[in-house]
Amino acid sequence: MDDKGAPGEPGANIQVGSFKIADAAKTDAAGMAFVLDQMAERPAVRALKAWALEQLAPAPGETAVDVGSGTGEDVVAFAELGLRAIGVEPSAGLRDEAVRRGPDSKAEFVDGLSDKLPFDDESVDVVRCERVLQHVEDPAGSVREMARVLRPGGRIVLIDTDWQTAIIHPADPDVLQRMVASFLAQAANPYSGRQLRGQLADAGLEITGETAATWLEPQEGARKGFLSMMHTRSLQAGAITAAEAEAFAKGITEAADRGAFHMSLTMYAVCAVKAPAV
Ligand SMILES: C[S@@+](CC[C@H](N)C(=O)[O-])C[C@H]1O[C@@H](n2cnc3c(N)ncnc32)[C@H](O)[C@@H]1O
Repeated sequence: MDDKGAPGEPGANIQVGSFKIADAAKTDAAGMAFVLDQMAERPAVRALKAWALEQLAPAPGETAVDVGSGTGEDVVAFAELGLRAIGVEPSAGLRDEAVRRGPDSKAEFVDGLSDKLPFDDESVDVVRCERVLQHVEDPAGSVREMARVLRPGGRIVLIDTDWQTAIIHPADPDVLQRMVASFLAQAANPYSGRQLRGQLADAGLEITGETAATWLEPQEGARKGFLSMMHTRSLQAGAITAAEAEAFAKGITEAADRGAFHMSLTMYAVCAVKAPAV
């Protein structure tokens, strides 16, 4: 989940594609940070961040890298645990924001891309990458790159959404199908969640754990954020008519008024280890 903000709020125009690095340069960092802060409060995101930290078992003195570190929360957490903590983030605005948020932190933030990490082979003990691969054109290559920098015995967690798991109610099934298909076609890698395990295995890593968490959108989500963006963009793409967009918006907001709106989405997390040297 990456797209929130009611009209008039900062972040209102941030869209799923805005976190693609090609679009990030055009997008305001304050708006992206606002959206990421909203996401970070959601129970599914909190649960998977906590699970990742437990699985990664970071130890003081180790080196940890967060690929696509956004506002830097997870990098600062590693630094506070006594690790050398580095966030790789291609958006200069988000790197600045991360530094601004943790002025006393030893966390470091560097420019870089998931498929070209600025680290030597086998130089990193811990890697995490959360809700980034859905925005990346070559996710499998990115995971191979993460495996390259991992030391033997090093641990990695990938977290991502699978957008085809979205359930939205109420909606006309035919309109909904066209909206979802249009949305999936506009995202770089909307099926990322289901691919994480295979990408780690194909990169030669040993899977050590996996879990999932369900994003449950609150009732106010019918009026703002992802859903308003989805029907607006479907209309712009010609996938639904203006009348269908209006009927969809009316249907979900009326349902929310009586507490009957539903939207859920599944997020996945997988942990793996690089085989220790023999
Ligand atoms: C949805 S945010 C997630 C941020 C952070 N991982 C978190 O959990 O809050 C996606 C992040 O990936 C970054 N990003 C996009 N494309 C990237 C790429 N090719 N390599 C590394 N980071 C990328 C974006 O700039 C953004 O900060």
